[in-house]
Amino acid sequence: MTSTLSSLSKKHLLGIKGLSKDELFAILDRADHWARINENPNEEYKFLPVSSPLKSSVICNLFFEPSTRTRFSFEVAAKKLGSHVLNFNPSSSSTQKGETLYDTIKTLEAMGTNVAIIRHPDGHILQEIAPKFDDLAIINAGDGTHEHPTQCLLDLQTIRQEFGHIEGLKVAIIGDIEHSRVARSNMYALDTLGAEVLFSGPERFLLNKSELTANARIVSVDEAVSSADVVMMLRVQLERHASRYHDLANGYLEEYGLSKRRFDLMQPHAKIMHPAPFNRDVEIDGSLVEGNRSLIYKQVANGVASRMAILERAVKS
Ligand code: CP
Repeated sequence: MTSTLSSLSKKHLLGIKGLSKDELFAILDRADHWARINENPNEEYKFLPVSSPLKSSVICNLFFEPSTRTRFSFEVAAKKLGSHVLNFNPSSSSTQKGETLYDTIKTLEAMGTNVAIIRHPDGHILQEIAPKFDDLAIINAGDGTHEHPTQCLLDLQTIRQEFGHIEGLKVAIIGDIEHSRVARSNMYALDTLGAEVLFSGPERFLLNKSELTANARIVSVDEAVSSADVVMMLRVQLERHASRYHDLANGYLEEYGLSKRRFDLMQPHAKIMHPAPFNRDVEIDGSLVEGNRSLIYKQVANGVASRMAILERAVKS
């Protein structure tokens, strides 16, 4: 084992907590570089360095939970950078015979895989296994309710593109905060970058005060929506609830969601975000998703650019 903690933190991307302002901005700057190129696809290969380590790299997607955006945007990002992409399917893999995640990744490393992009329901397992890998970088694509760092980075990229800065902004994050790894990653990043977080939603879905960073506080939904620069709505993650709330669709939009009434409370310059997938007319009025105040599909587009920067960081380190 030769990795030091500092080299590990550069190679793997396990979470946002602990990343410095400089590290965050370095990724965002590079993500903006790729976003500019992606907007003009004819220019793409002119800008791709011939010596890019990504050109001969092998990237493996291992998703133990469902995904559309994260998995496919990593695949698009890797292919744009000239990488070879493997897609691991847990249900047809030897994990069905009892092989552990560590042994699976060790096997892929022995085959020459450079990066493992892992989504897993266990919020601790990536931290446990990552220090055991020197030749392969692990990227957290969402681990339980712990963190979703790559979603956070594309959110930050989108916010900075829209407002020109992040420091001093008020970001409302509304919904099922307790089960949201996106909320946690954004709380850590926005604390580091000097933005305020206004959490809101059903009381049973909020964090304990002891879990909040210094920049975060809990307010009513109306206060969050009316005072924020960014209104980020979250899906209620029924799949993570021990007891399911089948009554959610009835009245949730009016009580806790971004209804048309609440949309009218937003400041004129404020923008709507959502990590998606969203449930139209549950946490957000369906007509707002593609409206001119929504950045939701800009977030999706930035997902490719951000993940190109994240893959470069993983392979270069
Ligand atoms: N935002 C997000 O993580 O979407 P997927 O679950 O589709 O990857």
